[in-house]
Amino acid sequence: MVSLLAPALALLCTAAPSVLAAPTKYQYSQLDLASVPAHVRRDLTWSLQMGYSGQTFFDGFDFFTEPDPSHGSVTYVNKSQAFGEGLAFWTADGIPGIQAEHWATTNVGDARNSVRITSKALYTGGLFIFDVALMPWGCGVWPAIWTLGYEGTWPTTGEIDIVEGVQDMTANQMTVHTTPGCTIAQNTSLYTGGMISSDCDSSTGGAGCSIVSDTNNTFGPSFNDNGGGVYAMLWDGDGVRIWNFLRANVPSDITSGVPTPSTWGLPAAAFDRTLCDPYTFFQSQVLILNVNLCGDWAGTTYSNYAYCPGTCAERIANPANLVNTVMLVNSIKIYQQSGFEAIVGEAMTNSNQTGAAGAVALNTTKSNSTSSSSSSSSSKTSGSSKSSTGGIARVGDTLVLTYATVAAVMVSMLL
Ligand SMILES: *[C@@H]1O[C@H](CO)[C@@H](O)[C@H](O)[C@H]1NC(C)=O
Ligand SMILES: *[C@@H]1O[C@H](CO)[C@@H](O)[C@H](O)[C@H]1NC(C)=O
Ligand SMILES: *[C@@H]1O[C@H](CO)[C@@H](O)[C@H](O)[C@H]1NC(C)=O
Ligand SMILES: *[C@@H]1O[C@H](CO)[C@@H](O)[C@H](O)[C@H]1NC(C)=O
Ligand SMILES: *[C@@H]1O[C@H](CO)[C@@H](O)[C@H](O)[C@H]1NC(C)=O
Ligand SMILES: *[C@@H]1O[C@H](CO)[C@@H](O)[C@H](O)[C@H]1NC(C)=O
Repeated sequence: MVSLLAPALALLCTAAPSVLAAPTKYQYSQLDLASVPAHVRRDLTWSLQMGYSGQTFFDGFDFFTEPDPSHGSVTYVNKSQAFGEGLAFWTADGIPGIQAEHWATTNVGDARNSVRITSKALYTGGLFIFDVALMPWGCGVWPAIWTLGYEGTWPTTGEIDIVEGVQDMTANQMTVHTTPGCTIAQNTSLYTGGMISSDCDSSTGGAGCSIVSDTNNTFGPSFNDNGGGVYAMLWDGDGVRIWNFLRANVPSDITSGVPTPSTWGLPAAAFDRTLCDPYTFFQSQVLILNVNLCGDWAGTTYSNYAYCPGTCAERIANPANLVNTVMLVNSIKIYQQSGFEAIVGEAMTNSNQTGAAGAVALNTTKSNSTSSSSSSSSSKTSGSSKSSTGGIARVGDTLVLTYATVAAVMVSMLL
């Protein structure tokens, strides 16, 4: 039902966000926390640093338009095209979403238009809470919610895949990609999930190191049927940890906006500091949401999934097979620890990396595209505009997470 409504609604909303924001990236860093002892950190409270939701959701993101680095059968379109074609949209309830095009029959092997959005803000450390209403799934489908190091050649500054899966997987698979030297401890005192691979080195390509959630319903149709859920990623001096909460089990401290990770119990996945220094292997990250089709994971492994008929290319040529390519995000909130002022500054240089969740060969021949990563080199300017973040709702701004406002705006748009 969502996917039928979405294109029509998007047309109603196309007029709103047509201006491409400046490509400047801002850094939110809590690096100083690295030196604070864990027992001190545990007692600190978290305060909201940035929120993405509702009508202003897309203001905080750039649209990635380079060829898909993961070799998917998708063409990532720019902002105006995404809204024009209903690939970026809001539901009638004002929930922002992205989807791969799935209304035309294509030739086998053709790419479909889709969306990959990249946050304008960069983060070093913090608590990232993703409240997701709907995740794409199905044979040939490969959605992800992840972070990617902004500077340097992949994977020099790391990649953290927070929500990811392919085909009809029912459990979320969490992965990091790093330079050599980062591994996962097979230690049941640290996380509840099942380790798939322990060496995170992706410097020669490679799949990184992964832990799969021990809970079904953390990905796929049953995740959606249960009303989605919350994924939380904590990146601090202890390492990187990820929790998967089913809708019915979302801790009340998250719902009430005072997240307290120390009360959540073991995470589903942990990339612990003892075997993977969190501020060496991971540096300033952008948030990314995308919907891919086939490609390095869903395509390359397609034949391993006996329930997926034919080939991946054949599968996605029929739009009826892609009704579940819609991602709906209730909110993304980034918290940073009180008592340690986040350092905010402009990013130094543009990046030429694009990341992946699989092997990737960097193409260093740059096209004159409009994507953020190739056009932001001119943004290294004086600090005069540092207080502005290009429309991202920040703490203190009245735009932060005001669902009532969003609902009112949506109603007025529909009238
Ligand atoms: C977006 O992409 C479309 C199709 O490629 C192109 O015609 C249009 O000029 C682009 N818009 C911007 C603002 O880059
Ligand atoms: C871009 O990639 C090239 C080749 O991999 C590398 O030499 C260069 O340092 C990179 N630039 C940045 C800003 O990371
Ligand atoms: C597993 O992790 C726990 C908690 O950090 C730690 O106390 C224990 O020493 C670890 N065990 C091994 C074998 O590393
Ligand atoms: C998840 O579902 C699969 C398929 O039904 C089953 O094999 C597996 O044991 C389940 N895992 C858990 C943790 O319940
Ligand atoms: C690299 O990117 C350029 C510009 O987008 C493109 O013309 C070229 O075909 C690409 N090369 C490869 C090997 O993909
Ligand atoms: C890219 O931009 C440069 C500098 O503006 C220009 O010389 C070049 O012709 C452009 N290339 C393409 C393919 O448009």
